[in-house]
Amino acid sequence: MINVFKVKLKYKIDSSYDIVIGENLDKNIINDLKRFNHSKYIIVTDDVTRKLFGDKLLAVLKKNKINSDIVSFTAGEKNKNIATVTEICRELLRKGTDRKSCIVALGGGVAGDIAGFVASIFMRGIEFVQIPTTLLAMVDSSIGGKVGVDLDAGKNILGMFAQPKRVYIDIDYLKTLPIEELENGLAEIIKHGIIADKKLFIYIEKNLDKIFRKDVIALTKIIIDSVKIKKAIVEKDEKESLLRMKLNFGHTTGHAVEALSNYRIKHGKGVALGMLIESRIANKLGLLKNVDMLRINLLVRRAGLNIHDDVFKAVSKANLNKLVLLMHHDKKAFKGDIRFILPLALGKVVIRSSLKDNLIKESVLDVLPRG
Ligand SMILES: NC(=O)c1ccc[n+]([C@@H]2O[C@H](COP(=O)([O-])OP(=O)(O)OC[C@H]3O[C@@H](n4cnc5c(N)ncnc54)[C@H](O)[C@@H]3O)[C@@H](O)[C@H]2O)c1
Ligand SMILES: [Zn+2]
Repeated sequence: MINVFKVKLKYKIDSSYDIVIGENLDKNIINDLKRFNHSKYIIVTDDVTRKLFGDKLLAVLKKNKINSDIVSFTAGEKNKNIATVTEICRELLRKGTDRKSCIVALGGGVAGDIAGFVASIFMRGIEFVQIPTTLLAMVDSSIGGKVGVDLDAGKNILGMFAQPKRVYIDIDYLKTLPIEELENGLAEIIKHGIIADKKLFIYIEKNLDKIFRKDVIALTKIIIDSVKIKKAIVEKDEKESLLRMKLNFGHTTGHAVEALSNYRIKHGKGVALGMLIESRIANKLGLLKNVDMLRINLLVRRAGLNIHDDVFKAVSKANLNKLVLLMHHDKKAFKGDIRFILPLALGKVVIRSSLKDNLIKESVLDVLPRG
């Protein structure tokens, strides 16, 4: 005889959260943490951001009598792996972290992804807040609840959807950010303009010098506009079906370029080149007008994609087949068919698949420097 019992688990959890954007948010953070009343707050950060901000934040928390501690790991994408996660979890236990504790993810996207992932699995999941300190983390990785680490075989293979309790975007952190990292974040912001907000694209065209001067008003404006776009897409499509895929404009090609370079090329640069190539594909298909393609091309280059960059050296005629093969193996590909997000105009994109490999290769060659 066979007995079947259904375990009924039809519940819906409200995992809404606030994204607080401003300058010098320490007071807000202190007030919130006191109110949240977790047993302990553990800052998880990399060694660079620990020296710059982590130890100071810990001192502020302690001064305000908040039970707190700090754990750090060596900075860099190569440490975004399960070994780092295990080491952090051991450290958390040593420091007396329990189920009612809360992790404070402080740093760039690497720290945010690792700390959020640790929070999502430690003792079957504890709460966490995000304090992003790179432009990329502010406009992209800290929002949307994707957390995880890399495996030798690929990026972000081990991961979860886990929403933070709150996100604090403090513009002050950008003062120490190297220009190269600013460019990385800017590529994603330009992407947001192209997929959903022509006015944001135009604003960046007009105010690029202010952005590079780290003018607080300009930075706040592009961060707020970007956050609104990412938030709206995530709200409608938390677990990535069709709508969230829009955010992958420039990424199908970008990820392949990153992989081709063995991840020496930073994500933002890969995406920047990806946006040029995918705009060219759209143009060749008759979807995107010349004038819009040229505007995208010009802005992406002005925003940091230098013709002498290694990103161009990573791709050549010789490894074109390999590049396209990598695209066929992209996580977003369906049964090997590559899905492209292609611009129709500034602020509007469409999803297309079943494109001919030759069209992709020709578009790559069109974008590469001659000679
Ligand atoms: N979860 C998501 O949805 C999502 C989205 C996009 C990217 N990501 C991930 O984000 C990661 C990339 O993040 P990233 O570009 O922020 O890189 P990163 O975290 O490696 O930071 C870059 C470097 O800048 C340093 N740094 C951070 N803030 C600083 C500051 N204010 N001043 C000076 N130095 C500072 C860091 O210590 C690090 O050395 C990748 O692993 C990517 O997969 C995740
Ligand atoms: Zn990206």
